[in-house]
Amino acid sequence: MTGAAVKRGTTMANVKKAIGVMVALSIGVPALAGPAAQPVAKVRAPEVIFAKVCGYCHSTRVGPVLLGRNLPPEYIEMTARSGRNAMPSFRQSEISNAELAGLARWIAHSRPPVDGGSH
Ligand code: HEC
Repeated sequence: MTGAAVKRGTTMANVKKAIGVMVALSIGVPALAGPAAQPVAKVRAPEVIFAKVCGYCHSTRVGPVLLGRNLPPEYIEMTARSGRNAMPSFRQSEISNAELAGLARWIAHSRPPVDGGSH
């Protein structure tokens, strides 16, 4: 929701009510599903995903160095979703859209590895 989308007539009470509903939904749904339900998938931190998944190749020179190259985030996301030659593609079940968006931004703004990425 952007600021521009909020109508001028919106009162604070309405905003609070809306937030209340959102909170109730986000807490209520897993609670209703019962204790046997899967825990809600957490969004993993970009550095964790990079170290565990991408770094397997991209920090070992199996793949090209990605850090510190100012690669466009859209390009990183696209490559991760579709794969490229020896690089496998990653599905949403492996890396969610939210995780991939954060990961792509993190890689795009990263600094070059100190030793050229050998660890
Ligand atoms: C199994 C090894 C492997 C893994 C894991 C892997 N990659 Fe790759 N990646 C490669 C290889 C090899 C290439 C070079 C492909 C080519 O151009 O032939 C590549 C290329 C790329 C490129 C293009 C780089 C350029 O210079 O244009 C991007 C972006 C990329 N990978 C992102 C990722 C991300 C993000 C992840 C983690 C989600 C990841 N890769 C995981 C092997 C891997």
